[in-house]
Amino acid sequence: MKYRQLGKTDLNVSVIGVGTWQFGGEWGKAFTPEEVKGLLGRAGELGLNLIDTAECYGDHLSEALIGQAIEGERDRWIIATKFGHKFPGPFERIDQWSPQEVQQQLEDSLRALRTETIDLYQFHSGSDQVFDQEALWSMLQRQIQAGKIRYLGLSVSSRIDPLYQIQRAAEVGVSAIQIIYNRLERSPEEKIFPVCQEQNLGVLARVPLASGLLSGKYQPGTAFTQPDDVRSRQDQADIQTKLKQVQEIQQNEAPPDVPLAAWALAWCLQHPAVSAVIPGCKTIEQVELNASAADL
Ligand SMILES: NC(=O)c1ccc[n+]([C@@H]2O[C@H](COP(=O)([O-])OP(=O)(O)OC[C@H]3O[C@@H](n4cnc5c(N)ncnc54)[C@H](OP(=O)(O)O)[C@@H]3O)[C@@H](O)[C@H]2O)c1
Repeated sequence: MKYRQLGKTDLNVSVIGVGTWQFGGEWGKAFTPEEVKGLLGRAGELGLNLIDTAECYGDHLSEALIGQAIEGERDRWIIATKFGHKFPGPFERIDQWSPQEVQQQLEDSLRALRTETIDLYQFHSGSDQVFDQEALWSMLQRQIQAGKIRYLGLSVSSRIDPLYQIQRAAEVGVSAIQIIYNRLERSPEEKIFPVCQEQNLGVLARVPLASGLLSGKYQPGTAFTQPDDVRSRQDQADIQTKLKQVQEIQQNEAPPDVPLAAWALAWCLQHPAVSAVIPGCKTIEQVELNASAADL
């Protein structure tokens, strides 16, 4: 495995992390504690040390499965989680952005993760209006002083132009950002990554496999119909367009002797602004293949 320093923090993250939205049950599969333990155990053996989760991947469910799986080995992991929502049920989110509500979420996350401190606590896809609450950031600074958080992060929403929040990131005490970046979605290269490099903000590239479309196993014509898979709720015409692009990339750009998923992750890591990729993983085989991207 290879490691990179996350921006100005002293967190030395593996370039391949583990995305765990999947553990919350919105990706067509429910996970048992044993499965999560096996998956993270293998990730640890391969040198991965970064886990990305959130308050609303299930009602702190993904966090609870992680907390249970890594209990006793907490020190070898860098845990990034998020704040801003309540999870009432699958595919629903209730905004909760007041400092009091976020403080409660922090306590719930610490309990679920069975830890005393969160390494990276990320603002989870909020509007500029909720971002602009001085009282929220000062409450979070107090939690850093109390030892409950090590660093603050900013996971920007894909529904708004993220530039405003990223330009203000260092000012509110944020050390790293998380953004969609993959071979099909390169827009951060233009304005976002230069700001991150200028401010020395760490960058976690999320959705690096374009929700699995860049894994190479889905051909044009594939329909996502399983109702408990988030992809069945996405724009199906857009998915078809992307699958055609992937087919072209596979034919003209990716080397034929490398699995496309590994190539796609290595592709993201070529950009000097990117600290790590956090592919969502559902099986040990996926973890192993994703880990192999570090050597490409
Ligand atoms: N707002 C936010 O902060 C936000 C939003 C989205 C995601 N995230 C974070 O970013 C992480 C990654 O994004 P994502 O999970 O949405 O998308 P992704 O990483 O692009 O795709 C994940 C999916 O790709 C497939 N896959 C993964 N590795 C594979 C392999 N080696 N071979 C074949 N298929 C493979 C799996 O699905 P199948 O096997 O079913 O195809 C998996 O569920 C999330 O888990 C979450 O931690 C954060």
